[in-house]
Amino acid sequence: MPLPTTNHTSHSPKIAKRLDFIRSLLRPQRYDIQHEVVNAFAPSNIALVKYWGKRDDELFLPTNSSISLSLGDKGAYTTLSIANTSTDSITLNEQEQDLNSRFAKPIIDFLDLFRQEHQVFFNVKTSLNIAHSSGLASSACGFAALTLALQKLFNWQISRQQLSMIARLGSGSASRSLYHGFVQWDRGQCDRGLDSYATPLHVKWPQLRFALLPALERGVKRVSSRQAMHLCQRSSPLFDKWPSIAQEHCKQLLTALHAKEFNTVGELIEHNCEVMHALIQSSRPAIFFRDSHTLALIEKVVKLRLEGLPLYYTQDAGHHLKLLFEEHNRADVLREFGCETIIVDPFEQPVCSELLPYAG
Ligand code: PMV
Repeated sequence: MPLPTTNHTSHSPKIAKRLDFIRSLLRPQRYDIQHEVVNAFAPSNIALVKYWGKRDDELFLPTNSSISLSLGDKGAYTTLSIANTSTDSITLNEQEQDLNSRFAKPIIDFLDLFRQEHQVFFNVKTSLNIAHSSGLASSACGFAALTLALQKLFNWQISRQQLSMIARLGSGSASRSLYHGFVQWDRGQCDRGLDSYATPLHVKWPQLRFALLPALERGVKRVSSRQAMHLCQRSSPLFDKWPSIAQEHCKQLLTALHAKEFNTVGELIEHNCEVMHALIQSSRPAIFFRDSHTLALIEKVVKLRLEGLPLYYTQDAGHHLKLLFEEHNRADVLREFGCETIIVDPFEQPVCSELLPYAG
């Protein structure tokens, strides 16, 4: 399908850097449209060692490597097509979004990266089967699914690692949602950002489960992870210590995952989460992603564990708590946390056909 070419305008140095990066990944064939409408799915992912802090704000290069576990069939289904209008349209769960909203704006900024040579607008329809804006990594799966859809629409012949670097420009954690199972996103060393991408880990652990606890909103001020990360990195007197701590946690977690030592993994992910929240709370002004409800749930997890139930929590930049446990303890977890708790089997093969196999 031929596309109208665009008149070149000058860009701010920040945008120009992102565009250069995209060009270096996509050259030479970027706009070979083969299908009018494409679909893609990407799973959400939960960080076990968190990404927190950027060494480059434009290219979303992290200060530390991170490790996650993808959420099987929980994530984003995206349908993408070229619009016949002169604006994008963004739909979330069947509801058309205001293009200036906090949800749509980052998506439009991301799409801007792919219409520099051809004037093209998009219809993006996304359905999430997890809650959004609450720390369940909906932006990770959303940008990963959108990246996969763009690849299909434009027939990019590029590797999964290159896709991971493109998704990273939408949301850092999206770089990890290009794979199932355990995933490591490498910090990389180079300033151009071409060595910072995610790869799957060769570990399968079919007994592992995540419990997603239903959260109650209690007037917690909603700050996005992007805003919180920015403020924290610039104002926390503790931030300098974080990158080396997180690198060390990655190393320890890799060993524990390969050895399948559940309690070591659980203890480590809780500790990593607590260090990140201590950093976040030491921002100036302080940011809290926790309220009394979250703290009560954390206390309950710790108490249950002391009573003999092997169960660990992690929490991201939202009020949801995620619990890690093994299948044989499912009944106890449901009894303690209620039947509204969503149990996710990260290694269950999703029904969607185009999904990537697990590594290993
Ligand atoms: O990718 P972002 O900008 O949504 O940041 C993600 C930050 C955390 O969820 C807190 C940690 C992580 O590694 O996913």
